[in-house]
Amino acid sequence: MIKDIINKKRVGEELSRSELEEAFLGYLKGSVLDYQMSSLLMAICIQGMSLEETFILTDLFLNSGDQLDFSNIPGIKVDKHSTGGVGDKTTLVVVPIVASCMVPVIKMSGRGLGYTGGTIDKLESIPGYKTELLEDEIMKQVGDIYAVMMGQTGELCPLDKKVYALRDVSGTTDSIPLIASSIMSKKIAGGADKILIDIKVGSGAFMKTLKDAEDLSDIMIQIGEKYGRETRTIISDMNTPLGRMVGNGLEVEEAMDVLQGKEKGSFYDLCVELASQMVSMGKDISVSDAKIMVEDSIISGHAYQKFLDIVSYQGGRMDEFSVSQNVLEISSEVSGVVQSIDALEVAKLSCLLGAGRLTKEDKIDPGVGVYLNVLVGDKVEIGDVLLCLYLKSDDKGEYDISKIFEIK
Ligand code: URA
Repeated sequence: MIKDIINKKRVGEELSRSELEEAFLGYLKGSVLDYQMSSLLMAICIQGMSLEETFILTDLFLNSGDQLDFSNIPGIKVDKHSTGGVGDKTTLVVVPIVASCMVPVIKMSGRGLGYTGGTIDKLESIPGYKTELLEDEIMKQVGDIYAVMMGQTGELCPLDKKVYALRDVSGTTDSIPLIASSIMSKKIAGGADKILIDIKVGSGAFMKTLKDAEDLSDIMIQIGEKYGRETRTIISDMNTPLGRMVGNGLEVEEAMDVLQGKEKGSFYDLCVELASQMVSMGKDISVSDAKIMVEDSIISGHAYQKFLDIVSYQGGRMDEFSVSQNVLEISSEVSGVVQSIDALEVAKLSCLLGAGRLTKEDKIDPGVGVYLNVLVGDKVEIGDVLLCLYLKSDDKGEYDISKIFEIK
């Protein structure tokens, strides 16, 4: 009985496959109710799960829906996933770089729910860009130009979808085994041969400590191995936003700048690191050899051209792309050195401007967002511009930014 299963986990005992099936498959069918599942999820959050339980849960998620098969596309297909962060536009940079090194990438992304948009929201800021592709369209595009950047196709892991929606509203997102099984089941169902996970750690991320990020990494790698999908992880900082821009269209602009080598710094370095790992996996070469190829592809302009090719293949009209022209500069009232920029506060501000959605029904404005004119370590004087707000046309821009910067 579900009540006994909940009690067993509540006191910290390991659940068997048949008990996990009874609870989770019962939830998918509707015989286990929301309040019972949220109680079990809370017990899992508090007591954790063994590796074996985590494998079984991954299996249940994976087998609840479609599993894509791209084995007739030649080459090793490498997928990447980020555990999520503020201003995370790495996909828009990394996929074209990897494809320009002739490693095929089928990148499926989601929309954002929470303070910032997801990769699909960013791509949809380009007029005409088509994010829904059929399987034969994917095959043709990857055959022709090595990459697609699109929304999810098929029904992957519907059990995870149902459980994740409940976790989101029941305070049960923060659990390493639940996060590992949720992400890895979707990556495995997505059909890639090899997987790279960018685990974010810091105030703007699920993982708040390095130890938690390392534990998550460990479990994800073991899940990948179990399914014969080589999995690598990198752990990267998410205390401050990634790059300078947060907002859907703005992030597309920044991605294009990075692809053209115009914008260097920690965000550029992260993109090069992720792309190098993917090219290393896709071509079975060392990371240092892959890094040479990656940097060449940026310097030669091939990576940027690949971005333009992907956009135009998927119907995007770059000539019609624009961001808001109602821009408000906000200046510093103190002088000193920027000690920190709070990722979460920047995310909340960009959401207030209209760049995020808090319910699935909310409409986002692709042209609004935040541009950080200073980064951590920069010296500022009174009157220097700290950030620019890209506002809706009728927005006067009366926002409190006092929690964003620490300047001393
Ligand atoms: N993203 C997911 O898909 N699942 C989680 O549990 C956390 C982040």
